Amino acid sequence: MLEHTSYAILPSEEGGAEEQVHEVGAVESVKWNGKVVEGTLTEGAFFLYLLNDQTLRFSVHPFEKVSTDSTLAVVEDEPVEDADYSDTDAELFLTYKNLQVTIKKNRLSITAQRNGKTAFHLSGVSFTKDKKVFGTFEKDAKTPIYGLGEKSGFLNKNGEKITNWNTDVFAPHNKDTVELYQSIPFVLIHDPGETTTGVFLDNSHRTEFDMQTFKDRVRFSAEGGPLNTYIILGEDIKDTIRGYTTITGTTPLPPQWSLGYHQSRYSYRSEEEVREVAAAFEKYEIPLDCIFLDIHYMNDYRVFTFNKDRFPNANNLIKELNERGIDVVPIVDPGVKKDVEYPVYREGVSENFFSTYIDGSIYYGAVWPGTSAFPDFFQSRVQKWWGHLHGFYTEKGVRGIWNDMNEPSVFNESKTMDLDVRHNQDGKLISHREGHNLYGLYMSKATFEGLKELIPNTRPFSLTRAGYAGVQRYSAVWTGDNRSHWEHLEMSLPMIMNLGMSGVAFSGADVGGFASDCTPELLVRWTQVGAFLPYFRNHSVQDSIYQEPWAFNKETMTIVKKFIQLRYQFIPYLYTLFHEAEKSGVPVVRPLIMEYPEDKEATDISDQFLLGRDVMVAPMLRPGQTHRSVYFPEGTWFDWWNEEEIEGGKFHLVYADLETIPVFVKAGTVLPFGDEVRNTKEQQRVSLIAFSNGDRDMRGRLYEDDHISYNYQKGEYVLTDIVLSSDGDVKTYKQGDFESNLVVSDIKIIGK
Ligand code: GLC
Repeated sequence: MLEHTSYAILPSEEGGAEEQVHEVGAVESVKWNGKVVEGTLTEGAFFLYLLNDQTLRFSVHPFEKVSTDSTLAVVEDEPVEDADYSDTDAELFLTYKNLQVTIKKNRLSITAQRNGKTAFHLSGVSFTKDKKVFGTFEKDAKTPIYGLGEKSGFLNKNGEKITNWNTDVFAPHNKDTVELYQSIPFVLIHDPGETTTGVFLDNSHRTEFDMQTFKDRVRFSAEGGPLNTYIILGEDIKDTIRGYTTITGTTPLPPQWSLGYHQSRYSYRSEEEVREVAAAFEKYEIPLDCIFLDIHYMNDYRVFTFNKDRFPNANNLIKELNERGIDVVPIVDPGVKKDVEYPVYREGVSENFFSTYIDGSIYYGAVWPGTSAFPDFFQSRVQKWWGHLHGFYTEKGVRGIWNDMNEPSVFNESKTMDLDVRHNQDGKLISHREGHNLYGLYMSKATFEGLKELIPNTRPFSLTRAGYAGVQRYSAVWTGDNRSHWEHLEMSLPMIMNLGMSGVAFSGADVGGFASDCTPELLVRWTQVGAFLPYFRNHSVQDSIYQEPWAFNKETMTIVKKFIQLRYQFIPYLYTLFHEAEKSGVPVVRPLIMEYPEDKEATDISDQFLLGRDVMVAPMLRPGQTHRSVYFPEGTWFDWWNEEEIEGGKFHLVYADLETIPVFVKAGTVLPFGDEVRNTKEQQRVSLIAFSNGDRDMRGRLYEDDHISYNYQKGEYVLTDIVLSSDGDVKTYKQGDFESNLVVSDIKIIGK
């Protein structure tokens, strides 16, 4: 622990010798095969092609033949067939529709223009002898940068140096805790009112985006492998996210019960305790959709078992709760206890399902169950095996799984597996050094696809701690072990917004904070925020103060309950946003700059967010706080609570006592609003709240289906567009003929 004392900054005698960096040099030879330009360089090789009229991919490998393989992150990546290619002695040109790319030969550089505007300029590629590869692109010093998934700190990452290496961090997260559980090497360079360029470095080694060292350049790098990069030239942030999620996939529409309120604790330690929790929700009439089972449900932390003393009749427990409308989600970690009498371990060994060293010997590391082996999820046959093991839960009525410790976390100095452990990507062997950041993604795939097979025509819910780009296709993400600190409530907002801008629409932080002790006021303020975020779960660590809604006192419970109820009333709107996220990749929770891309005032706002386009939330983030400054983008807004009209384009000082969180709705919105319900399993009538827009029309949209199956993909849904004129005339336009719960005549108009 000496590194946690001043010992860590012992005087250094060294002159800080910089590692020597070499250039890849000039393009020496080129081949164009009608789709892809391939070439050799003074050092190494490269290829480049266009995927559509906004995206190009290039890869440079200073050491090896450059391969067009991508990681599991990528689902769609085909070169266009009809790009135009030409060259001169000095340059190569590739054009498709409005996208034009120029490669300079004398010293490799790449420039991309769309609609005549230069939006990307890679000025150099270099490497070190120990196989680090660097790319440098230019940008104006002040241009904000977003994305990079789950990172600490504020929204705009310009001026920071950010590395990606999936890490289990229980110590309090702060600005310096850069490496957390997820790695998404994707940035958005947003030039307000001009362009937004996405840079996705699809390389699973430890990567870095250095937005600090050079004033007007970004240097991005990987500790091995090629500089395998996708560049997306968008008109604005949304357009670029659409492009990015075309490549890596969108967040699939979740089952509606996963949008309800979820209650967790490390751990509810027995059937009785779980029953007591469920009963308390019923007694206090607080809506609830799900209770979590953390590691104590297992027999000595063996996954796919129940502890017979604590959970003697898990079947009955789950059945009983399901009948009361409560789902049960158990935790499943990757570590499989080394125990010759444990069938999962035995089978894993006899079938060679575990991660091994190159000589075939199994890698063992300590986690909750003690010495454990770790499935090699990189192999399809292991994914299938693991997926099917979940029949143990699904036959009891489980429809959701919580994957944790899948960085993978190991209790040792390096916090993870040895880097020379091998993973087998169906024939291609990679080291853990290369595969580390992908481990959680592959595990999420195994879980999600396994559940999908086991519970036919039912959308599974899976929640993961670790992941890589593309994780949104398989899992929701929670932001790991935060603490009951006001600062962590604050930090969760930019984290969730940047996750959304990195393709992950379904995320949330532990409400109330996981570690440390929550206070009544913090629980209230955190629940108020959680109610408006995509994923809404209250979770806390063992030995901390309990933080269930009733844990403190009646006053606290009453307010917490009010906001859980309000969450349910917003679910019709939220579910419609999830439908949009699946279709377009545009996230559910958005920073102001996403909807107001030209508004320079909005570039750095980390402490307010938009739910969809039209609902703005400005949380209270400090104890005792009842006033805060709120920025209102252009237009007219309405205060949710007192219905007052507020003029946008400026800051206002806003008041909110403990019973309210500042929420505003944009003039012209028609908001679908549900009745109060016990949970999502109850049928919910939906009415409309319209926010006056002077003499202009007001508009809204509602998406509905059966909440749970895949029938919506066969057309069993209804999407209703609502247009309300200023004189009260309502028109609806419907796609699909699923039976709607919308009562159009029930419409409340706010404002003049
Ligand atoms: C990890 C998880 C936490 C969980 C605990 C026990 O710390 O992040 O959410 O409760 O493990 O399983």
